Amino acid sequence: MDMLVVQGGCTLRGHVFVDGAKNAALPIMAASILLDGDIRIKRVPDLVDVQTMSLLLQSLGAEVTRSGDTLDIDTRDVACQHADYELVRRMRASVCVLGPLLARFGRASVSLPGGCNIGHRPIDLHLKGLAALGADLRIERGYVIGEASQLRGADIFLGGPGGSTVTGTCNVMAAACLAKGHTVIRAAACEPEVADLGRFLNGAGARISGLGTSTIEITGVEGLTSVTHTVVPDRIEAATFAIAAAATRGNISIHDVCPEHMASVIEALEDIGATIHVAADQLDISATGSLRSIELAALPFPEIPTDTQAQFMALMATVPGISVVTDRVFPDRFMHASELVRMGAQIRREGASVVIDGGRRLTGTSVMASDLRASAALVIAALAADGESQIRRIYHLDRGYARLEQKLNGLGASVIRRADGSAQAKRPHYLQGDSARSKGSQSQRD
Ligand code: EPU
Repeated sequence: MDMLVVQGGCTLRGHVFVDGAKNAALPIMAASILLDGDIRIKRVPDLVDVQTMSLLLQSLGAEVTRSGDTLDIDTRDVACQHADYELVRRMRASVCVLGPLLARFGRASVSLPGGCNIGHRPIDLHLKGLAALGADLRIERGYVIGEASQLRGADIFLGGPGGSTVTGTCNVMAAACLAKGHTVIRAAACEPEVADLGRFLNGAGARISGLGTSTIEITGVEGLTSVTHTVVPDRIEAATFAIAAAATRGNISIHDVCPEHMASVIEALEDIGATIHVAADQLDISATGSLRSIELAALPFPEIPTDTQAQFMALMATVPGISVVTDRVFPDRFMHASELVRMGAQIRREGASVVIDGGRRLTGTSVMASDLRASAALVIAALAADGESQIRRIYHLDRGYARLEQKLNGLGASVIRRADGSAQAKRPHYLQGDSARSKGSQSQRD
């Protein structure tokens, strides 16, 4: 297992380029099951989660080949409709194959993803939407078993207690493309990654309208064919660099971004006191002046994404005054708070919020990453802290950020990846040699 060793006290300066969005690439790859033709997807980030989705597609019989940042996928020979627990448990986005398998083959058995470090994550809305399209679904021995001789268009409401569902909208929208008749998804997720999936499907011959709004309409077609598609920029990766720049009082330019997808993040950073210049596909952020505390809440798009909540928490720990950070999407997504406290932050949890008494000196130490975005928050805090930090369990980070240490080092940071021998060394003798098994069970499923 690797860890990152971060020398704190740096100021980020320079230029950084972001990759394509993980959360667009994954459902697009899953939806490729629907297509009967040549599929080329460009700007696919080289991440562990993308590798997991490739393995899942290959386990179903698809061919997946990568050349640079382009994936070629051929699903014409898919013969298996079973998504096994061994792959699904590694990544929740695997559930995105359910709708496409049902729509193309009329049957699917897909493992339930199980528990998660960022809180309760049911898939009841996915099942409700697919059932409304006419699928017969049951849960058996940890698997969703689905059958549908012919999906039929329907009027579906996908709102839930945490707002809409991103991957649930992807699942239902993809399945509805091959359903007979017209489907309306109400309270659909408006996230840019959902719209990007819609554009991919339309490129292959689907008839989807209302993308990016809460009402998506789909007219079913007989089949989908070839497509070449370029994945949208990763707004969460871009936001992570912007927040890291602010936390280190730096001055950076972030390239290959889509600023319209980041309006709420830009506004929050400006409220904190950063100066931001927006160009067509570039953000320049300067946080060299004094910063001020704020209250912010993570909500569905276009509000501040829950996937930036942890990073904002790390930033606000460096800013004098009382800040409040709330997460309305995943109200328990706060495991990073106690690790930030170990670095000297003053953070108190109050329900779905944390109250941060910011501006205390952060000091480098050994911390443990608990999920993907929590890892990013710990890296940000470590960059701003005095001294050296070791960030352990960074396999989480590798699921969602490609070459993070190289990119940060290009901005003047000192971040080194090292094998983390300590976990093994500190284990009792009778457990040593057991690391492969324990590593294999570390599924986090962001
Ligand atoms: N929800 C339900 N029922 C469902 C589905 C969701 O009640 O059937 C609730 C959830 O409990 C939550 C809210 O709805 O309160 C939103 O969950 P959503 O389904 O939108 O999350 P997701 O689709 O499982 C995606 C991203 C997450 C991101 C969330 C929210 C992918 C692959 N994952 O998850 O990304 O946090 O949307 O924006 O797209 C990450 O990248 O670090 C990550 C966790």
